[in-house]
Amino acid sequence: MIFTEEMLASMKKVEAAREANIKYEPRRMTAEEKDALLKQYHPDYKKSGFSTIKVGPNKGEKAPVELVDVMEGRSRILDLKIDLNQVDYDVDVLVIGGGGAGSSAAIEAHAAGANVLIATKLRIGDANTMMAEGGIQAADKPGDSPAHHYLDVMGGGHYVNRPELVKKLVMDGPKAIQWLNGLGVEFDKDEQGNMITTHGGGTSRKRMHAAADYTGAEIMRTLRDEVLNRKIPVLDFTAAIELILDKNGNAAGAVLQNTETGEILIARAKCVIIATGGAGRMHYQAFPTSNHYGATADGLIIGYRAGAKLLYQDTLQYHPTGVAFPQQIFGALVTEKVRSMGAKLINSEGECFMHPLETRDVSAASIIRECSTNGKGVSTPVGGKALWLDTPMIDMIHGKGTLEKRLPAMLRMYLTFGIDMRKTPILIYPTLHYQNGGLEIGADGMTNVKNLYVVGEAVGGIHGRNRLMGNSLLDIIVFGRHAGQQAGARFRDITVGTLSLDHVKKYDAELKAAGINSNEPSPKLFPNYTRNVINWRKL
Ligand code: FUM
Repeated sequence: MIFTEEMLASMKKVEAAREANIKYEPRRMTAEEKDALLKQYHPDYKKSGFSTIKVGPNKGEKAPVELVDVMEGRSRILDLKIDLNQVDYDVDVLVIGGGGAGSSAAIEAHAAGANVLIATKLRIGDANTMMAEGGIQAADKPGDSPAHHYLDVMGGGHYVNRPELVKKLVMDGPKAIQWLNGLGVEFDKDEQGNMITTHGGGTSRKRMHAAADYTGAEIMRTLRDEVLNRKIPVLDFTAAIELILDKNGNAAGAVLQNTETGEILIARAKCVIIATGGAGRMHYQAFPTSNHYGATADGLIIGYRAGAKLLYQDTLQYHPTGVAFPQQIFGALVTEKVRSMGAKLINSEGECFMHPLETRDVSAASIIRECSTNGKGVSTPVGGKALWLDTPMIDMIHGKGTLEKRLPAMLRMYLTFGIDMRKTPILIYPTLHYQNGGLEIGADGMTNVKNLYVVGEAVGGIHGRNRLMGNSLLDIIVFGRHAGQQAGARFRDITVGTLSLDHVKKYDAELKAAGINSNEPSPKLFPNYTRNVINWRKL
């Protein structure tokens, strides 16, 4: 038996209350209740989780402690002999990162006639895109509109999203779905061939398009095929460890390092597109993560050192339903689609304590409160607490076989560990999922450093201080394509000046002047799982 006695006793209460909980309609929280909840329980408000940035364009602002440590670390190039006259790759557009956003950018720049190179730290497709489950939003159904979508995105983001970016996101949403459909993404469709759409937390309309519960993998499969079909060169296992500027201060390439051999390669480019993804593997506040192994905020570090500004770097997304048990998959994502299909969040006493589709920040904070102050969590073997997600409700609501059909990957994942989520509820707790902030871009997709674009999770501003489900898969397509098109339209007019790494030396001198002398390698590139390095949080 894999469940503990305490779990089994609590599970009995969940089962006994199931019929009543299915019918029960929890009310939504008021704006005031949400604000108070977030301030007290959301990790973004935990002062000890943040420190002050001491150098660079965002000096004086706060950022997660672990991110600041890397920002204040030692550039990996400082101890190397680098000859910028020895150029290994001379291209029009250099894309750093091989996930969904980078691939979309590369495809469009290539379509515009540019000579494109993708450099990626792992292999193309090894990225958070691949791990996205629940779906991609787009307002393309009768009764919905980009205006409705816009209001949902702004509301979810606490109204601090950059309006011009949100407008682009929602207006281009339907086109993004058509583009993906045309490339071969197998979206879920009904017998008439119409796309099936569901709700996500904070959505006023059902606009979540999905490929079962492996939407990101299906999208990434298609984009990767397109990159390979176009014969766009890809450097796998090649990390960008610093950006190169030219003497005019414009982005002009990157110092690349082969992650297996350590070999240094110089790429010169007319436009550089950062597509390095998120930061879950920084394990902020010792949270586990749903993220891919390479998610270590590299783009933020090298972009910042080159002078690009950060925006909302102090706001992270903790997905409400990360796996809390069994330990082998601790922190893995349990898609929000489980809740959008009717499964409710239940505490140790069998009580349905909140609406299942509040926005993510509110849901995560509510779960943390239930487990801490309210004392209604279930103990897990690693010393943490967790709540139930009552998955058997799905087949009870929609009919036998629904869970297997709509959530096959999740079902298989749990079955591997002897848990049949059609019959028993599962234990969840928030997991570090998404970096809401990142490098600031304008409507043209460019940072304040000329010819430097940013796409995907490394961008800050699209989602304000909290992203809604399914808007990340949408933004990687919309803004990835946009940056690729912009670079593709401009590269012929760009002349690259003499290459320089002076900005790295200048940044290092600023650190020294501020009394900072860290030897922490920067960017981080990979997480450190040596024993006792991360003191995993217990609640
Ligand atoms: O819950 C999920 O499937 C995650 C989706 C997202 O982050 O957009």
